[in-house]
Amino acid sequence: MDTPDTRLSRAQVRIDLAERSYDILIGDGLLTDPASYHGLPEGGTAMVVTNTTVAPLYLEALAGVLRTRHARVLHVVLPDGESHKDWRTLQLIFDALLGSACDRKTVLYALGGGVIGDMTGFAAASYMRGVPFVQVPTTLLAQVDSSVGGKTAINHPLGKNMIGAFYQPLRVICDLDTLRTLPDRELSAGLAEVIKYGPIADMAFLDWIEAHVDALVARDPAALARAVQRSCEIKALVVGQDERESGLRAILNFGHTFGHAIEAGMGYGAWLHGEAVGCGMVMAARLSQALGRVDAAFVTRLQALVQRAGLPTRAPVLDADDNAQRWLSLMRVDKKAEAGEIRFVLIDPPGTAVMRPAPDDTVARVIAESCAG
Ligand code: NAD
Ligand code: GLY
Repeated sequence: MDTPDTRLSRAQVRIDLAERSYDILIGDGLLTDPASYHGLPEGGTAMVVTNTTVAPLYLEALAGVLRTRHARVLHVVLPDGESHKDWRTLQLIFDALLGSACDRKTVLYALGGGVIGDMTGFAAASYMRGVPFVQVPTTLLAQVDSSVGGKTAINHPLGKNMIGAFYQPLRVICDLDTLRTLPDRELSAGLAEVIKYGPIADMAFLDWIEAHVDALVARDPAALARAVQRSCEIKALVVGQDERESGLRAILNFGHTFGHAIEAGMGYGAWLHGEAVGCGMVMAARLSQALGRVDAAFVTRLQALVQRAGLPTRAPVLDADDNAQRWLSLMRVDKKAEAGEIRFVLIDPPGTAVMRPAPDDTVARVIAESCAG
């Protein structure tokens, strides 16, 4: 157990978006600390949205502190998993809100990983045309990426995160203590999104991750705190300049074009999102190399780091008969595609990313190489 003496210091990162600005709080013990909630709406109703895995772990802790602030604290417990990030599950949130006559001042609290955060955010964006919401991310992936920046969505069988809205939370509360109960595989999945920030924005951070990846895998608290804070700082800089992804923000999708094809092609949930992104980053680095933008040493370096983080780097075969065509057709559904032309986030040079189309035959070569190992 932590004592006040052994507690890590807490950090705060600001997302600067004029009237939609908010803070990300990062530290131990934040979930149950009343100070984490100062300044948020009080009175009225709070609705905690969580799932069957997270509810037994943290629902009572969050509900307990919310009861000191709200007249009514409700909750809805959704089925767990990426395969439930759909209309049917979203509807359960609306059922709970309408079933309890929740008004437009109701505050939604997203307690869980990225799936809960994305669905709760979308529900908040659309319930009565918009109600306030707070992100309480409990996975590493959600703390370093999905809870920040206001992208909310559900999946469609034909494409990942295809139905959604930009809608910012009032606050993000990253309690690092919650990462203690995270399964190892999920921790590794979160590390994919941490690694992402190096090649696209900060090679000094990539150096640091390489030096600390074993500590991160071993859940060293100081290493995790640093990884969450730096990731959020980089994401805040990008989102602050391009909230609705008219350009720059697309760099945060490094590895995601390939990754989303893996998730949709394998069936949602077969590969974790972070696993698909880890493999997808290596594929995107290979494509960057094939287009003359980075050297082979960079690809080898990134692949080694992704592997050390416990993530797969060998791409799956998505169709035994015509693998490349299957990959390409899945990637054409990507939100970055324009008029059927796939646009990839490429590294050029390391520490900087650009978005460009690539010839199908070059992409097909990268797919073949990546599926071979
Ligand atoms: P997840 O939400 O499915 O959580 C992973 C698993 O961990 C689940 O089984 C969950 O119940 C469990 N869990 C959560 N917290 C736990 C804890 N503290 N202890 C034990 N178990 C815990 O997956 P994820 O990796 O957090 O998020 C992936 C989702 O995020 C994907 O749907 C992806 O598309 C989305 N995403 C969104 C953005 C964005 O900007 N909105 C960015 C990246 C990813
Ligand atoms: N995770 C990508 C983004 O927030 O833009």
